[in-house]
Order: sequence, then C-alpha cells, then structure tokens
Amino acid sequence: MERDERFGEMIDLLELQKEFILRHLGAGDVAVDFTAGNGHDTSFLSRTVGKDGRVYAFDIQPQALASARATLIADGCPDNVTLILDSHSNVSLYVHEKINAGMFNLGFLPGGDRTKTTMRVTTLPAVRAAIELLAPGGILSVAVYPGHEEGDAEGRELRQYYETLDRKLLCATEIHIVNSPTSPYFTIIEKRK
Ligand SMILES: C[S@@+](CC[C@H](N)C(=O)[O-])C[C@H]1O[C@@H](n2cnc3c(N)ncnc32)[C@H](O)[C@@H]1O
Repeated sequence: MERDERFGEMIDLLELQKEFILRHLGAGDVAVDFTAGNGHDTSFLSRTVGKDGRVYAFDIQPQALASARATLIADGCPDNVTLILDSHSNVSLYVHEKINAGMFNLGFLPGGDRTKTTMRVTTLPAVRAAIELLAPGGILSVAVYPGHEEGDAEGRELRQYYETLDRKLLCATEIHIVNSPTSPYFTIIEKRK
C-alpha cells in the first residue's frame, strides 16, 4: 500500500476507505484486517474499536506480521489485536463471531516479496466468507491494485461476483479515479441493518 506523494492535496483513496468504515465501526466492535501487511489498517481498526473491541489480522508472511506488530506498538494501540499467520481464506477457522467491519488491501507487501501477492484463488473465497461474517449494518472495504496483472484480474473477478449480490441485503459501491485506470480503487460492501 504505497501512497503517491505527488497527489497529496487530492483525494487519497486509501484514506477515503477509512471514512466509510468509520460510519459503521465504533468502540467495542469487532473487525478483521484480511491483509495485515505492515499493519497500518490493523492499527486504524484497533484504535477505532478501542480496548473493549477486538481485531483479527491475517497475513501469510511472518515478516508482515512482525512489521504489523511493530506498527501497533509504535501507534500505541490497545491490546485488542489477534495476529494470525494464515491465509484469509481460512477466516472461518479463527473468527467465530459476526464482524462489524473488514478490510482487504490486496496486492503485495510494500517493500517485500512481490511474488507473495494476493491471488484470485484465495481472494474470492475470502471475500465471500467475509461477506457471510458481516453483522447487520456491517461494512467491508476491498482495495484492488490493477497496475499488475494478477491485481487487474482479481479486480475483474471480484466485480463479477459483486454484481451477483442481492441488492435487498447488500450494497456494493465501487470508487475509482476515472482518469487514472491503473491507480488503486476500492469497493465498499454494506450489509443492511
Ligand atoms: C498491500 S499489502 C497490505 C497492506 C496493509 N493493509 C497495511 O496497512 O500495511 C497485502 C498483504 O496481503 C498479504 N497476503 C497475500 N496473500 C494473502 C492471503 N492469502 N491471506 C492473507 N494475507 C495475504 C501479503 O503478504 C501482503 O502483506
């Protein structure tokens, strides 16, 4: 998740995701970071739900979880995070309660091994499972990086899936920069109360 300093004063899509999440997530709630990486989203979720809340954070790379742990300490986060070294597609083995918010920031670890990127074969089942876990009034944010081949394909398959969701139960909204097709974009999935 690299921020582009050239566009500092313009809309930062990765920050904008958080504004949507804050409409649905508060103190004492439960959240999942499906791609912990360097832990910036985990830290945001941890601080938002506070000491009475709970956050589960997944990554397949020990290096990522070590980095995430360091971020949580540096940010002074409450002790409410469970770091899980496993694929997010196995979420149902670890999370046995409804969640108020979930975040996916797909792609590879910034500064890490670019071959360890999220892959459609596990991303799709994980997103399906995340939607199943959403509590009424819950929210899922999925950021896609179409600038690399797998990211582009991942985004297309996810879009096809979102189009099948029952509008009476779920609302899927895509937000992207129309004059920058390779920039990241994200989808917000909201479950009705
Ligand atoms: C773009 S980074 C996430 C950035 C992170 N949210 C942050 O705030 O720093 C994507 C992460 O997804 C992880 N990842 C790849 N495949 C995964 C999988 N199947 N399950 C969980 N994490 C995965 C990568 O190891 C990488 O750390």
